[in-house]
Amino acid sequence: MKIFLLALSLSLSVQAAPEASRFVSVNTSILSSLRGIFQRPGKIKHADAEKTVMELSARETETLSGAIHQNLNRCGGFISHDTLAEALTPRRFSFFNRRAPIDYSISKTSVLRSMVTQVSEVNIRRTIIDLSSFETRFYKSDDGARTSELVFNKWKDLSRGRSDIRVDYFVHQNFNQPSVIVTVRGSETPNEIVILGGHLDSISSTGEAPGADDNASGIGAVSEVLRLIVNHSHRPKKTIQFIAYAAEEVGLLGSNEIAKSYKKARRNVVGVLQLDMTLFKGTSNKDIVLISDYTNRAQNEFLGKLIDEYVKVPWGYSRCGYGCSDHAAWDAQGYPASFSFESAFDDHNPHIHTPQDTLENAGGDARHSVKFAKLALAFVVELAK
Ligand code: BES
Ligand code: ZN
Repeated sequence: MKIFLLALSLSLSVQAAPEASRFVSVNTSILSSLRGIFQRPGKIKHADAEKTVMELSARETETLSGAIHQNLNRCGGFISHDTLAEALTPRRFSFFNRRAPIDYSISKTSVLRSMVTQVSEVNIRRTIIDLSSFETRFYKSDDGARTSELVFNKWKDLSRGRSDIRVDYFVHQNFNQPSVIVTVRGSETPNEIVILGGHLDSISSTGEAPGADDNASGIGAVSEVLRLIVNHSHRPKKTIQFIAYAAEEVGLLGSNEIAKSYKKARRNVVGVLQLDMTLFKGTSNKDIVLISDYTNRAQNEFLGKLIDEYVKVPWGYSRCGYGCSDHAAWDAQGYPASFSFESAFDDHNPHIHTPQDTLENAGGDARHSVKFAKLALAFVVELAK
């Protein structure tokens, strides 16, 4: 109905007395969903994969703006120019207009089907044991800073022998615990970045905070994905970054600072996946739960397809109701972020943030985490291709 009214108002304005026309350039992907309304002989002056230039009256331009608002639930997305020549001139890089549609196709099945079979439960369990043996990984504690060192050394070790991989600390402004970032430089479009992360800190009111599930288990799965990328000599076209975030438990301090710095530097992050709590299988009929709030719907749907293709376990959606982990920091900066979680929100591990968040209390092995490592591996390989 809305579409019909828009089409009607446009055709009325076409018949009205001629007014000074404008040359409007629109992102082609935005326009494609409105094509029926605006595709008229003579209106489109130029179209390519990135932009379409149309000659519109002032009223038609308003109609276009309204259509983008109402139909796509977003603002702007087009630029009005005085002349056709100006509209056709390529614009300099602009953070929001430049981003091409993201390719969510599944096409790496031949390499991924064998890669996912090699995810090792023992390796993930080893990382969980190593990290949860600190008395705490609290962001202000000495052990909290040593945790970052342990992750840095482990990731440095795993990426040995690859000149296209570097490992860095991200030093934070207001606290000592650094985040750790592995960068696998993309071979073709290194400025496009796919991010897989989890937080390395822990918290507990008593001071003893093993955080086996929350979130040694996420770092364990992330580390296993890195190991497999290196072991398979996999060289992605886009850049992949693995991030162990500091200070999540005290308000996403680490990830907020990182996501803001990426936004400020206009870095082109095409997708972010968060692993936080992968150890405890709390919902009997769902193995992987995608958190639907503070995340990107299109990317979540892509993850659902990846689970069906590569993990083959039952999955579903749930909501946190608030920005419950580091994905929310990226989401807040406008980047597509997702969060794959161990259970429905209400069924999560009851021991988190206590001294009882141990491997033993979550079943004693990391079999549940294996599914998340498989999904995360598929995510980075398919999205960074
Ligand atoms: N791993 C939790 C988030 C979580 C808990 C998700 C239970 C789903 C179910 C995370 O480490 C955490 O504790 N987050 C805080 C919020 C954050 C902004 C400090 C929380 O949930 O209270
Ligand atoms: Zn927590």
